[in-house]
Amino acid sequence: MSAPAADAPILSVANIDVFYGASQILFGVSLDVERGQSLALLGRNGAGKSTTMKAIIGLAPPRAGTIKVRGQEMQRRSADQIARAGIGFVPEDRQVFPEHSVEDNLLIGAKKSAEGRSDWTTARIYDVFPILAGMRGRMAGRLSGGEQQMLTIARTLMGNPDVLLLDEPSEGLAPIIVEKIGELVKQLRQMNVTLIVAEQNMHFCLDIASHVAVIDKGHIVYRDSIEGLTANDEVKRRYLAV
Ligand SMILES: Nc1ncnc2c1ncn2[C@@H]1O[C@H](COP(=O)(O)OP(=O)(O)OP(=O)(O)O)[C@@H](O)[C@H]1O
Ligand SMILES: [Mg+2]
Repeated sequence: MSAPAADAPILSVANIDVFYGASQILFGVSLDVERGQSLALLGRNGAGKSTTMKAIIGLAPPRAGTIKVRGQEMQRRSADQIARAGIGFVPEDRQVFPEHSVEDNLLIGAKKSAEGRSDWTTARIYDVFPILAGMRGRMAGRLSGGEQQMLTIARTLMGNPDVLLLDEPSEGLAPIIVEKIGELVKQLRQMNVTLIVAEQNMHFCLDIASHVAVIDKGHIVYRDSIEGLTANDEVKRRYLAV
């Protein structure tokens, strides 16, 4: 295995092919994320956003290509090893432990970062997520969908990830809640949390992302700054539902 380069991107995905059984879903997908960047992975329904995230976290290992975290190859590691290397994942279906309190959910997620950092404590979480502070003793299963989404993000942060992957955080939530989650993610961005956000909703990403990659039918078809995308009507019309 090659030694990690000091200036390597924190996460580097290069030319990955992913299959479910016999059907190929991703075709040579490549993405780089530098520390402190925030990448929006945009694409329509079924484009391959979740599959890209599952490949990164080891749930859909690529048949070809490489995935490096801080320069170290990860594509043949287990999901647990990848999580410990510093990748935190918030899935589409927001998983909380319903029979445990909000606080216990947070404590279950607690671990040091791969480099030994423990920036995130319950106190800091309650500071950033005041809504959770008021319900710390409540069973997580009794929270609303939006509150569960926040708790899942908070629990993942408690693992002190170097990169936080959010799979469609706005999906299925009422507009007012989407706005709240957006504010929260914006705050994380201001704290220099390195992010990849998979979304169909470009508008949700405008204040959140520094960079964008657009995926369509398993291919990355466009890469730019968020400003570049917002000015590109052709790409928005062809690949996004806007
Ligand atoms: N477990 C699976 N087995 C077979 N095909 C799958 C499986 N999961 C997803 N697919 C297919 O892979 C393609 C990409 O799906 P994926 O879930 O990555 O898309 P997505 O961009 O996340 O879409 P959405 O916005 O609906 O979440 C789709 O054609 C989907 O039908
Ligand atoms: Mg998806």
